[in-house]
Amino acid sequence: MNIFFYVTFSNQEEFLSTLRKKFKHDNVYTIKDKIDLSKIDVAMVWNLPNDIFKKMVNIKVIFSMGAGVDHILKLSNLGNLPIIRVKDPNMRIRMYNHVLSQILIFQLKLKFYDEAQRKKIWMNERYTPLNNELTIGIMGLGYIGNFVALKIKKLGYNVIGFKRKNQTKNTTFDIFDKKSLNKFINTSDVIVSILPDTKNTKNFINANFLKKMKKTSLLINIGRGSAVSELDLINHTVNNPNFYASLDVFNKEPLEKKHMFWANRNITITPHIAAITDHHSSINYLFKRFMDFKKNKKIKSDVDIKLGY
Ligand code: OXD
Repeated sequence: MNIFFYVTFSNQEEFLSTLRKKFKHDNVYTIKDKIDLSKIDVAMVWNLPNDIFKKMVNIKVIFSMGAGVDHILKLSNLGNLPIIRVKDPNMRIRMYNHVLSQILIFQLKLKFYDEAQRKKIWMNERYTPLNNELTIGIMGLGYIGNFVALKIKKLGYNVIGFKRKNQTKNTTFDIFDKKSLNKFINTSDVIVSILPDTKNTKNFINANFLKKMKKTSLLINIGRGSAVSELDLINHTVNNPNFYASLDVFNKEPLEKKHMFWANRNITITPHIAAITDHHSSINYLFKRFMDFKKNKKIKSDVDIKLGY
């Protein structure tokens, strides 16, 4: 089969070489190969430009080289093209590690001690809650969110989840839906957003949402930047000195130098590193899905284009 590979990752050469080794019985092309794009069967991409996609008139399946598929859903005329996303166990372990690190920094008040060190202050000790005194609310309970929720729960935290439409019965932790959103927000000490970028999630975390959060609380966003109204978040920190946010994703990345987040002491910024796309494990996953497709000549899309995830 003819595979077209296009990503905007800084380690794209490493990816390409792993991909070519793994898919040695197929042809892996990049833009440099100047191939006739109508001959492409399969695309493996991250941020593929629409004008390249348009020329792949015989494409049968498109693979996202990450967990998110918003970059694919921006392409025009997808029709019923199956979209496959990476479901990499290593990625969700990394996401979990990142979330846990941010919870612990908040819980153990480590930011205060860090600031005090810079000012050479031997700070008095402060009360730090135990795990079972904190409720962690997880929004977005897909492949990654559900895993994070279960792992956090095992550590003795109280865990609750949020799903817009809750049709599933979960016996491990309570799940709230649109109707019970207020309860979800005001019960949580930490809210973790793993929401995708869809028309329903845009600015979901806005002034109205934030004002329902506990005065002393933490918002962690590792989903997509578009779920948070950045201006509302900045305004919220002005009036709520004990509210913190840890953001890994932003409306525009890289975050602009003039952005107000940089200098805000209540906001921790990480540059979209909560979980890297691990090229070995993600390519192994994609290879398995590709081989099923090759054998069966069909593949079920992982994505509902109407829902946007
Ligand atoms: C992803 C990401 O979707 O890194 O994989 O954001």
